[in-house]
Amino acid sequence: MRPENARRDAQGVPAVAPYYRDELVTIYNADSTDLAFLPAESVQLVVTSPPYNLGKDYGTARDDATYQAYLDWCRRWCRALLRVLEPGGRLCLNLPLDINLTFEGGRRRSTKQPVLADFTALLVRELGFVYNTTILWLEGNISKRTAWGSWLSAADPWVNTAAEAILVVSKGTRRRAPRGRTSDVVREDFMEWTLGLWRFPGQNPREHGHPAPFPEELPRRLIQLYSFREDTVLDPFLGSGTTCRVAKRLGRRSIGVEIDPGYCATAARRCRQLVLPGR
Ligand SMILES: C[S@@+](CC[C@H](N)C(=O)[O-])C[C@H]1O[C@@H](n2cnc3c(N)ncnc32)[C@H](O)[C@@H]1O
Repeated sequence: MRPENARRDAQGVPAVAPYYRDELVTIYNADSTDLAFLPAESVQLVVTSPPYNLGKDYGTARDDATYQAYLDWCRRWCRALLRVLEPGGRLCLNLPLDINLTFEGGRRRSTKQPVLADFTALLVRELGFVYNTTILWLEGNISKRTAWGSWLSAADPWVNTAAEAILVVSKGTRRRAPRGRTSDVVREDFMEWTLGLWRFPGQNPREHGHPAPFPEELPRRLIQLYSFREDTVLDPFLGSGTTCRVAKRLGRRSIGVEIDPGYCATAARRCRQLVLPGR
């Protein structure tokens, strides 16, 4: 896609045809480093899990850059998200605390990198997002361990923290005016979720044919905690479509962007299958 050559609407926004659209969901088969086809300040909540640069096979997208090239790429899509978020809009990023691996010329190299700390610095110190919080998600299912550092030796043991993070930042200001907007989070959930230690299992990757899906519980909590029903939710790395499917069930408009056409098809199918009562 080359947005600079695309047709533009009256506001100068390049017209890009959606891959899929229903009454609440719009999916684009596009590259999230260039969201020029979405109007500025048109989104109130971003919920996403980006590629972690761990060499996963995502079909179209590569996942094996050097760590510096990975961070440079993250800077590009974070800037794109800053533009489309409304002032007060939130960005919720599901990230590992650290990773054990980088790539040099496509070859794997064992090395610890502080991903969560680097993202926090990028978003808050460099791009000017307002820090909101960091939630810890305890997945429970510990994946097969291979990285021990120095086995049974104090030389250089590696700790593999069996948790992921959800970094939450806001554009400009944390507080959003509630007048004329509807919240639908209930008391028990609000009390539990605002403790910031979330425990629920991860998603089986075999179920929807995607190598790294998150479970529906993750976007459900973030959408109900951080958006009003009238808001629009964006997932710029839609994968198998989990965020848009959950947003639809919760009655929110949502936009998904995914670079791989096969995953767009999966996401569209999962959203189409969800028929809302009374529609
Ligand atoms: C970690 S997965 C997201 C999984 C998703 N949360 C789910 O539940 O299925 C990251 C996704 O980002 C997509 N992706 C990678 N680079 C992209 C880009 N530049 N623009 C849009 N999507 C991209 C990959 O194809 C992959 O499906």
